Amino acid sequence: MTTPREDRPLDIIVLGATGFVGRQCVAYLKVHAPPGTRWAIAGRSRERLDGIAVAEGLPDIERIVVDTSDEPAVVAMAGRCRVLLTTVGPFAKYGSAVLAACAAQGTDYVDITGETPWARRMIEAHHEAAVASGARIVPFCGFDSVPSDLGVYMMVDWIRKNWSMSTREVRSAFTAKGGFNGGTLDSALTMMERGELRALANPFLLNPPDRRPGPAPDRSQDLRGPLTDPDLGPVAPFFMAAVNTRVVRRSHAQLAARGADYGPDFVYQETMRAPGGAVGGWAITLGMGAFQGLTKKPWGRSLLRRFAPKPGEGPTAAVMDAGFMSVKFVAEAQDGRKVFGTVSAKGDPGNRITTLILCEGALCLLMDRAALPEAAGLLTPASCMAEALTARLRARGVRFDVTVP
Ligand SMILES: NC(=O)c1ccc[n+]([C@@H]2O[C@H](COP(=O)([O-])OP(=O)(O)OC[C@H]3O[C@@H](n4cnc5c(N)ncnc54)[C@H](OP(=O)(O)O)[C@@H]3O)[C@@H](O)[C@H]2O)c1
Repeated sequence: MTTPREDRPLDIIVLGATGFVGRQCVAYLKVHAPPGTRWAIAGRSRERLDGIAVAEGLPDIERIVVDTSDEPAVVAMAGRCRVLLTTVGPFAKYGSAVLAACAAQGTDYVDITGETPWARRMIEAHHEAAVASGARIVPFCGFDSVPSDLGVYMMVDWIRKNWSMSTREVRSAFTAKGGFNGGTLDSALTMMERGELRALANPFLLNPPDRRPGPAPDRSQDLRGPLTDPDLGPVAPFFMAAVNTRVVRRSHAQLAARGADYGPDFVYQETMRAPGGAVGGWAITLGMGAFQGLTKKPWGRSLLRRFAPKPGEGPTAAVMDAGFMSVKFVAEAQDGRKVFGTVSAKGDPGNRITTLILCEGALCLLMDRAALPEAAGLLTPASCMAEALTARLRARGVRFDVTVP
């Protein structure tokens, strides 16, 4: 029998606590979880969990040994907490039972997947169960796709509040510096091994069935080469756009279903800033094409698995601390007026920024519940907790700025 949320012995479980990002989440919550928060760490190895507890100076923290292939153990774990935070990936390999158990038992959930085909399968299989149980299931709660999702929400919300109007279009350009985790590469290669290219290319992959393909399908196709944006300057295709744009479109669809849509023909496109103009733009485009080409071939994947970072590995602390991200947005209101925005933060996107967002997402689900919109199911960061999470991230130094030209 499912235990009611109020009676659960734990507030938060950090699953994947022994992984590269998971360890950083433990360190973050140790400092930033409010006093009295009852939290535990979970992973598949007792020895490694003990090692993390000692290394982080948390000798008394509860440790839950669970392999995600052991379904009854996963169900028992998910029933013991209010919020489950998971970094156990590739999610398509190791994440399904965890999400399913939370959806069934009304346990709120955050993860940092960027695996859109897996998320689509989870939406189809578990959205209704989560609606019925009242669980707020929020995948994509890391660098993918919170800066995009909350940034677009900020722009649309500003236009609505200041000009009483809906939004026709938002475009963004990313600048970022940081390292690369073995776990991230493993997840990307797993999608290729599963032959998910077609699903990945669908601009409306995450939209609810009744909002697919959605408005303006032609203008929602992924960018294929560099261009000069009239407002953002020289830009090139951004390798995370195939994830982030799908999440933003799901947010728009879910908010529309609640009567708060972004605009009748709303379009979102995402790019990467190309500082070297057209030459820089082509360099980025060709570099990204070459990497994608490698991931499509079995020999290319073997090469990457052999020489790139392995699961459990990632950049040095110095690289993570020296990283940053900055996203510039331009939004066009229905009458053609434009407004600009920025979302920026210090620290490398895949680790420092992802850890901050994921942990604040979990704390938001735990502590700001009364302020969140009445919604359950497989949600997006924006459709679940846009304002509350933005406020939390602002308080931790992430900048969300809007400027009128
Ligand atoms: N959204 C973003 O911006 C973002 C950023 C970074 C990473 N990610 C994603 O987050 C995931 C984790 O990244 P990472 O760099 O932390 O990877 P990682 O270091 O390889 O961590 C993976 C974790 O999963 C655990 N695990 C694997 N199989 C398991 C199983 N069957 N049962 C229980 N636990 C299991 C591992 O346990 P052991 O320690 O015992 O091996 C480890 O703790 C990846 O999918 C990656 O793509 C997303």
